[in-house]
Amino acid sequence: MKITFYGHNTLLIEIEEIKVLIDPFISGNPLSKEKIDVNTIKADYILLTHAHEDHVLDAETIAKTNNATIVSNYEIAMHYQNKGIEVHPMNHGGNWDFEFGKVKYVTAIHTSSFADGTYGGQPGGFIIEGEHKNIYIAGDTALTMDMKLIPLSTKLDLAILPIGDNFTMGVDDAIIASDFVACDKVLGVHYDTFGYIEIDHDVAKRKFFEKNKDLMLLEIGGSISL
Ligand code: NI
Ligand code: MN
Repeated sequence: MKITFYGHNTLLIEIEEIKVLIDPFISGNPLSKEKIDVNTIKADYILLTHAHEDHVLDAETIAKTNNATIVSNYEIAMHYQNKGIEVHPMNHGGNWDFEFGKVKYVTAIHTSSFADGTYGGQPGGFIIEGEHKNIYIAGDTALTMDMKLIPLSTKLDLAILPIGDNFTMGVDDAIIASDFVACDKVLGVHYDTFGYIEIDHDVAKRKFFEKNKDLMLLEIGGSISL
């Protein structure tokens, strides 16, 4: 499993030959738009955690150019189905076996509306099991007790957590979240994109290190392999 960071909460997960894109927000991201070309991104599936613009802005374009399937909560799935895009609707607690592996849609504490105010269902995160690796993509969320449910069924290899604060958990709560999900290996996302969520990288990494945890912060376009 290879994970590439395109900025904010945008990630490309490659599982064998299948490309799974998470929360595409590139053309509106001042940190990504010069470095990543939306028109050249390849995706077989696009997973959307919630309807906020900083998670779905480029979903329609990329889905249409790639003939990709959008996977999200029921309301978001119907929104894109009405635009002629192939979708797979899910809801909290549900699992589905896709060709690349198993996906579970899990709770997130946040909101979810489209940019025009249309209802975007309830926000969520994803647990993806593929190539014998298990990852948790929290999406935008507060620290929540529901995270404690995850290790009851899944032994995680990586937790992808928001760390930018203000709209989501900050670093201190993300450290507690990594305890709740029983995974000390964390990839930080949802930081630096706008003024509200700028963080000090060294301070964040040191706080994780002091708790014997590993916080990874990737350059835009950077990858890790599990
Ligand atoms: Ni959001
Ligand atoms: Mn967001």
